[in-house]
Amino acid sequence: MRTSLLDLLACPTCRIEAPLALTATAAEDGDVIAGELRCRNCNAVFPIRDGVPRIVREEENYCENFGYQWTRWKNLQIDRLGHHDISEERFFANSPWTREWLKGKLILDAGCGAGRFSDIAAKYGARVVSCDISAAIDACRETTRVHGDLTNQFQASIYDLPFKRHVFDGLFCYGVIQHTPDPAKTMRTLPQFLKPGAPLAYDFYEKTGWDELGVVKYRLRRFTPDLTTEQNLRLAHALTAAFFPLGATLSRLPFLRVLTGVLPIAVVHDKRLSLKQEYLWSLLDTFDWYGPRYEIRQNHRQVVRLLEELGLADVKGRWGVATARAPEQATNGVSETA
Ligand SMILES: C[S@@+](CC[C@H](N)C(=O)[O-])C[C@H]1O[C@@H](n2cnc3c(N)ncnc32)[C@H](O)[C@@H]1O
Repeated sequence: MRTSLLDLLACPTCRIEAPLALTATAAEDGDVIAGELRCRNCNAVFPIRDGVPRIVREEENYCENFGYQWTRWKNLQIDRLGHHDISEERFFANSPWTREWLKGKLILDAGCGAGRFSDIAAKYGARVVSCDISAAIDACRETTRVHGDLTNQFQASIYDLPFKRHVFDGLFCYGVIQHTPDPAKTMRTLPQFLKPGAPLAYDFYEKTGWDELGVVKYRLRRFTPDLTTEQNLRLAHALTAAFFPLGATLSRLPFLRVLTGVLPIAVVHDKRLSLKQEYLWSLLDTFDWYGPRYEIRQNHRQVVRLLEELGLADVKGRWGVATARAPEQATNGVSETA
């Protein structure tokens, strides 16, 4: 954790916006590798290990599957390492900002996983603060290290972020909302961290009449969240090996492509990926289907309503995506939590 971030921090336990006391037992060039943060008000202590402040307690972390997933496949979806622009395309398609706007901005990546989108924001000169509840945060630290002091990590839940209100120039939360226990609370909690007028971008699984098309997926999901990570990994390997050849063939046929939706695997087909990459992405996404404790879909019209009720401005929504801005007055509107 870089000492320059201290000004942003507030105790997530008592929420008093007084500076946290930092004790460093190991540091490199202003980056604290080991030590602790202590609240001067309530005395809560948060260890810093391997350069990352750890705000979560083990018992709060329902995302062991994601910790495993992003440690094992940390490099797979990073554009820079896979020589494609798939993450960059989604990052900008789902957000209200441009490449030029990002330079010098302080951006929060809420639920960063292995850091595929933090990497893009830093590539365009943003200072990124990446947060994740799981061990994925260590993968993110590694994959985005190349950006030097533009990238920073905290292992923390979205519900207990250690930041003052109104400090970020923008935030995004991609691929996360559906995997939290209370998606509405997740969407209501984050805007408090935005400066007045600052933009946010959410993406989420859209609720449709077709959700149950992947019947096998949802039959299996009745018990897979209770399997161990090891068991889910074996399941994902077995299903991907069995169904990828059919899925890859169907996904290349214009009218039959839709049938991949009934297969029990997440078939990834993208012309920018080699067949081997498509296989690995399908394996990762299949593991990502069955492992999560929560998968709760949203209707974008309801998301728009929720954001409008929070007092956000310029609220826009479409299938699986919503964008908005914090109100211009810091004090009106945005509630702190659900
Ligand atoms: C499907 S991954 C998406 C990661 C990344 N945003 C991406 O799109 O590649 C979902 C991530 O959300 C994280 N997550 C789930 N609940 C969270 C919470 N309450 N607070 C912070 N992170 C959370 C998981 O640990 C996981 O890394």
